[in-house]
Amino acid sequence: MIELAFSILASDFAHLADEVSTAERGGGTIVHVDVMDGHFVPNITFGPPVVKALRPITKLPLDCHLMIENPDAYIPEFAAAGADMISVHQEVCRHLHRTLQLIADHNVKPAVVINPATPVDTLIEVLPMVHHVLVMSVNPGFGGQKFLPLALEKIAYLAELREEMGLNFRIEVDGGVAHDTVASVVEAGADMLVAGSAIFAPTVDGRRDPAQTEKNAVEFLKLAHAAAEK
Ligand code: DX5
Ligand code: ZN
Repeated sequence: MIELAFSILASDFAHLADEVSTAERGGGTIVHVDVMDGHFVPNITFGPPVVKALRPITKLPLDCHLMIENPDAYIPEFAAAGADMISVHQEVCRHLHRTLQLIADHNVKPAVVINPATPVDTLIEVLPMVHHVLVMSVNPGFGGQKFLPLALEKIAYLAELREEMGLNFRIEVDGGVAHDTVASVVEAGADMLVAGSAIFAPTVDGRRDPAQTEKNAVEFLKLAHAAAEK
């Protein structure tokens, strides 16, 4: 099943609850929460308090993408705040297996993320324990960046490995996934599509147009489904 995981990084934080319901009305089924610490990535965003605030305002699963050093120290807090899925970067986990197990021990779905320069082969041993693998198609840190096509081969390779190993983890892709790139990621085999700036309408004179956001999501999913049926 193809799903749109809309990234609230591109939303209007002053009206977060409305933005989430608008994206949901457009067909989004996962809330993608980009957590940045200013160390692993140059940007700082939000942490467990925002996850906690989101929890009562939506029934959709909260997909927490931790772009932070030392995720082990914060996993219990994100779990308590209401995270349904937590993904950690391979690049910061010295003991990746242990970290994924820690997530699972908190009854949260564990996932692993790889940066554009990190090979898929570094994940083979942990594939049986993840709910999904997140392939970054930009260098993490900011929304609105240009899609890196090198992600496509990695997605296809993961789909191949999944088949060969008889597993059923999902394949998520994140960064620059928009109306012009969504077909290629779906054709490669991705089924959890993160999109931020392609979904949330930009601010014009301090206001956002929810109808535009909803339309963006509907259109995005239409293109994704068409590519999946090919
Ligand atoms: C980038 C984040 C992404 C980002 C995607 O570091 O992990 O989730 O919000 O934004 P767009 O869709 O605008 O590339
Ligand atoms: Zn993300």
